[in-house]
Amino acid sequence: MFAVSDEGTAPSATLVIFGATGDLTRRLLVPSLANLMRDGLLARDFTILGVSFEPGDDLRLRETLGEFCQECGPAWSDLQSRIHYVEGDFLDDATYAAVGAKLADIGHGSAGFYLAVAPKFFGEIAERLGRAGLLEERDGAFRRICIEKPFGHDLASARALNARLLAVADETQIYRIDHFLGKETVQNIMVTRFANNLLEAVWNHRYIDHVQITAAETVGVEKRGSYYDATGALRDMVPNHLFQLLAAIGMEPPNSFGAEAIRTEKAKVIEAIRRVKPHEAEQYSARGRYGTGRSGETEVVAYDAEPNVDPAGSTETYVALKLYVDNWRWAGVPFFLRTGKRLSARDTEIVVAFKPAPYALFHDTAASRLPPNIMTIQIQPDEGLSLSLSAKKPGPRIDIVPVDLAFSYADRFKVGRSTGYETLLYDMLVGDQTLFQRADMIESGWAAVQPFLEGWVSGGEVETYEAGGAGPAGADRLIGREGRAWHRLG
Ligand code: BG6
Repeated sequence: MFAVSDEGTAPSATLVIFGATGDLTRRLLVPSLANLMRDGLLARDFTILGVSFEPGDDLRLRETLGEFCQECGPAWSDLQSRIHYVEGDFLDDATYAAVGAKLADIGHGSAGFYLAVAPKFFGEIAERLGRAGLLEERDGAFRRICIEKPFGHDLASARALNARLLAVADETQIYRIDHFLGKETVQNIMVTRFANNLLEAVWNHRYIDHVQITAAETVGVEKRGSYYDATGALRDMVPNHLFQLLAAIGMEPPNSFGAEAIRTEKAKVIEAIRRVKPHEAEQYSARGRYGTGRSGETEVVAYDAEPNVDPAGSTETYVALKLYVDNWRWAGVPFFLRTGKRLSARDTEIVVAFKPAPYALFHDTAASRLPPNIMTIQIQPDEGLSLSLSAKKPGPRIDIVPVDLAFSYADRFKVGRSTGYETLLYDMLVGDQTLFQRADMIESGWAAVQPFLEGWVSGGEVETYEAGGAGPAGADRLIGREGRAWHRLG
């Protein structure tokens, strides 16, 4: 059960941020906390305790974070006075003693520890928090850990990290972040499906031909070459973000809106993703790496020429997969997933393509082919939902054309400024784990991509695609084998 007051305010607590001077804290965490403050969702005595190895003090951290919060308004000045700092090495037990002393000083029993740090520190910090007794929940107060991605590098490392965390904390204390789950449109998928009987009736292999899940970006690898080159598009986006979208589309109706009921249904879908054999990896995937080209009006360099990237390596910046979900509802329905950098448009969307209506009726008409019904869930940008139906073009002949029924969030709702992290931080503070990954979801996600990681080691093609284009031709071949085509980007 969540601890939320009548006004929806989260209980008094301290958020301890490891990596308090880093990019994530400045760009996302602090502005999100200021937004929550503005909306009256944080307790009036909510406190931030920053931890980092950089020399500094309370005042300095307040100033540094303030620079990134210039548009945060009066909520910020209120919050700013409750920011504290502990300088220390994450691998030194003395740091944890100092954090413990500071927490005792602040006086809230409840604390969330947010690990906004490099992944190599996740297990280390959690173990040290455990050893210092900081994860013990006493007198009704909570102690929770938030872990950023990447959660592991493959199946074995994800299992090992789960084991380390679960040795010092209970699953109910662990909040594994997948920021896609903080997106409003992603949260809406479940409501769209289960609050509209019309849709649920046709949401299965009898009516759905295939599903496409796309996360296309126009940006390149930016300053993250050393992380990305060791990671690649598959690890970076698929077992986490894209599988969460797949789970929302594929899950069975949960018994309730309780966190465990929802996570159990999602976990079952991820678990049901067919595990291909490593030698089949090439047949079910396509990979690419961006070459030179354009991003808008600007000429851009190839991935090979980006800083901190091995030009002779084979890290993919684009991946497309053909997957099956082996259960009753989805038997035989292919799920095509694709994600890549330096593509023609920023476009995160899910396309559900329905089977065409039986054709016989239109046989003797001018309708040479029936366009299938397509439902598009636009996750970003221009969040919304559209459904293409077939209509008769006015005129003496039966001429059938697709027409759109469309809904846009911006037109329908007054959407306030948000980073997407507000919901996640608030949920952590009130103890709602619905939008966080459970250990089993993470592990089955990795288990489904593991055969690709293994299969690709023995070769296969990583095609060069033009920056600013639609991605490698191999991805078109992958989806095109049975006459299907990708939805146009943008
Ligand atoms: C991150 C990936 O998790 O998600 C990035 O590491 C990617 O490579 C980003 O750019 C995409 O998120 P969003 O919210 O911008 O679509």
